[in-house]
Amino acid sequence: MYLTREEEKIYDGEMGWTYQVSMRILVKLGELYGADNLIPIESAHISGVSYKTIGDAAIDFLESIASSGVRVSVKATMNPAALDYENAVFKSLSSNIIEKQKRIINLYERMGIESSLTCTPYYIKAPMRGAHLSWAESSAVVYANSIIGAWTNREGGPSALASALIGKTPNYGLHKPENRRATVLVKVEAQLKNESDYGVLGIYLGKILKDKIPLIYGLPSNEERFLKQMGAAMATSGMVSMFHVEGKEMNRAGGMEIISVEDKDLRETRESLTASHKKPDLIFIGCPHCSLSELRQIAEILKGKKVRGDVKLWVCTSRFIRNKASDHVRVIESSGGQVICDTCAVVTWLRDLNVKTLMTNSAKTAYYAPSMNGVEVIFSPIAECIDAACRK
Ligand code: F3S
Repeated sequence: MYLTREEEKIYDGEMGWTYQVSMRILVKLGELYGADNLIPIESAHISGVSYKTIGDAAIDFLESIASSGVRVSVKATMNPAALDYENAVFKSLSSNIIEKQKRIINLYERMGIESSLTCTPYYIKAPMRGAHLSWAESSAVVYANSIIGAWTNREGGPSALASALIGKTPNYGLHKPENRRATVLVKVEAQLKNESDYGVLGIYLGKILKDKIPLIYGLPSNEERFLKQMGAAMATSGMVSMFHVEGKEMNRAGGMEIISVEDKDLRETRESLTASHKKPDLIFIGCPHCSLSELRQIAEILKGKKVRGDVKLWVCTSRFIRNKASDHVRVIESSGGQVICDTCAVVTWLRDLNVKTLMTNSAKTAYYAPSMNGVEVIFSPIAECIDAACRK
C-alpha cells in the first residue's frame, strides 16, 4: 500500500504511539482488503460508547489513548450511551454503571469527539453527497451510502476511531465507484403499508443478501422514514451497507440475479419478530433515533390521549432533535410518554429498569432485544404501539 512521506512518519512512530497504532490499524485493514492508498475523510462516527456493549477492558484501552493527549483530525461523533443523564428513568441504575458510562463519554470528549450520543448523526449535520466517511453503526452506514449518497464502509469502533485520529481511511470497498453498483435486483410484490412492513422486508432481505448491494423496485413509497427502517433492518440480519431504490441511482452490473418478494415470504419473518403475546411493560419508538418529522408524527397520534399508568412509553432521539422539537416533546410528555436522549432500549439495561416485555415498531430492535436485553418482544407499527400504550 502506498503511503506518503508524512503517513510513513506516523507509521514509524514519529508522532507518538497512539497515532502509530491508529495508522497501523488502517494500513493492516487496507492490505487485507486490497487498498492502494489512504484517502481523506469528511467525518468519523464512533460506535462502542455504551458501557453495556463495551465493558471494562475497553475503558482501560480508551484511558491509555486519551491520556496520550491525541486529538481527532476531523469532525467525529459518538453513538448512543447506556443512559440519559437528564432523565430520572435511569436513576435506578447502579452507581457503578452511571459512573463508568460518564468516564467513557469523558474519555472520548478528551480526544475531541462530539458527545452527540446518537445513531442518527446525519440529522445533526448531513454529510456531503459523495463525501468519504469512516462511520461505524451499521444503520447510519447504510443510510449514509443509500439515502444521502456519501461513501463509507461499515467500520468497527476501533477502525472508525483510528480514522478519526488520522483523518483518513483505506481506499477500498464502498469508497470505490465500481463496488457501489447493485448486483441483485429485488422485485417487491408484497404489500407494504407502514414502517414496520419495511423493517420486515429489511430483515428478510438482509438474511438473503448477506453483503450484496440490491437495486430494489416495486416499493409503494420511497419516504425517508420507511427507507431508514428497511436499511437498518437489512444491516441487522445481514451485512448490507448500501441499497439502491428505483428512481435513484440506477448504477447496476449486467446479468444481475433477481429476487422476488411476495407477502408469503414476509409472513414468517414478521412472526419471528413477535415472540410474545404478553402485555408490554415498555413501548419503545426511536430505533434508529427519531427525526424531527417522526417526533411530529408521534405527537399528532398522541394528542389528547393519555399513556396508561402501568406501561412506559419511550420515544428516543438525539438531544439536538429534542431541543428543536419542544412543541412535540410537550405533547408527548404531557400524555405521559418520555422523550429520551443519548441512549435507546437496546444499549441500556432493560431488565434493571424492570422491563420484561418490550413492544416496538423497529424491526432492528425486535431482532436484537431478545438476545441483547433478555426481554420478550411484540413488534407492531407505530400507530398500534401508541394505541397499546393508551388503551384502557
Ligand atoms: Fe440506534 Fe439503538 Fe437502534 S443505537 S440503531 S436506536 S439499537
